[in-house]
Amino acid sequence: MLEKLVDPYGRIINYLRLSVTEHCNLNCVYCRSEQQVCRAGVKEEVLTIQECLAIAEAAVELGMTRIRLTGGEPLVHPDILDIISGISRMDGLMDLSMTTNAVLLDSMAFKLAEAGLDRVNISLDSLDEETYRRITRGGKLYKTLNGIEKALQAGLTPVKINMLLLKGVNDHEIRRFVALTLDKELDVRFIEYMPFLGQENWQQYYLPLDRVMEIASAIAPLVPVKGEHGGPAKYYRLQGASGKIGLIPTLSRHICSVCNRLRVTPACTIKPCLFSADEIDLKPGLSDKEVLKEKFRAALKLKPDPARVYCSPYERVKQFQGKRFMTQIGG
Ligand code: 5AD
Repeated sequence: MLEKLVDPYGRIINYLRLSVTEHCNLNCVYCRSEQQVCRAGVKEEVLTIQECLAIAEAAVELGMTRIRLTGGEPLVHPDILDIISGISRMDGLMDLSMTTNAVLLDSMAFKLAEAGLDRVNISLDSLDEETYRRITRGGKLYKTLNGIEKALQAGLTPVKINMLLLKGVNDHEIRRFVALTLDKELDVRFIEYMPFLGQENWQQYYLPLDRVMEIASAIAPLVPVKGEHGGPAKYYRLQGASGKIGLIPTLSRHICSVCNRLRVTPACTIKPCLFSADEIDLKPGLSDKEVLKEKFRAALKLKPDPARVYCSPYERVKQFQGKRFMTQIGG
């Protein structure tokens, strides 16, 4: 009998983000600090296939209907195809997706679809080779662009592009990204920078998404449309366009009231809220499904009261108590 996870504030929690590995084949400036890139020899956490399947099974039995595999970069996990086939077979699961930088999609998209992956979100923050290389500390834009084409061909759709808006770095490209939705069936989602590298210099990168609305509406009238899955993104379509534009105002708007998710980190802990330091260790008793389920229920109680979250970016940043880098959480 499937249950439903409802948190103390009445939010239905039906979406699990499973970060399978901390490893990544890129080193994005907003994701890893300089020190983190240089910390040679430090062990990076990876979930085993057994851990992934046990956690996913407990989540699905508790009524979670959507699972997203994240990282680090999930495609560098050596068992990613087996993890996908195992999870995609679970009764009750309606949507299995992945967030990836697409570097490996050119060779893997069809295998992923065959294994049971439904769709991908792709992190792409610049359409300019040099800027892409700078943001990713050495990545090659053409690999990600080829990966996007392959994802479309393999039917890993709808393909969503995540563009993290970074002031002074890629904000001159908003128009180009918006225009991508005109003739391709791509959803382009703009995300506000969150202070995962520390609270000191966050204004260096932070730009509110209002700028995107201004630029987009100068191209064509913007029609509000519904997103498929609830959650914090608000969607619009440029009149006549094939794809949609999504806005994820992580700091400038109050998006916590629509939170529908729990996260699992590669260190095998549940993280009830991106902005809070609370975590529950899943390792002890992992093979006992009832113990695992009890921890999921306990995680619900640790989700912060959305009424107590401020919506001004300055106040939000002060509330941020994360102790992990983005490579350890997966967005
Ligand atoms: N702020 C907002 N989004 C972030 N992501 C990574 N780091 C940050 C940050 N500091 C997002 C990226 C990527 C996903 C994995 O997480 O845009 O698409």
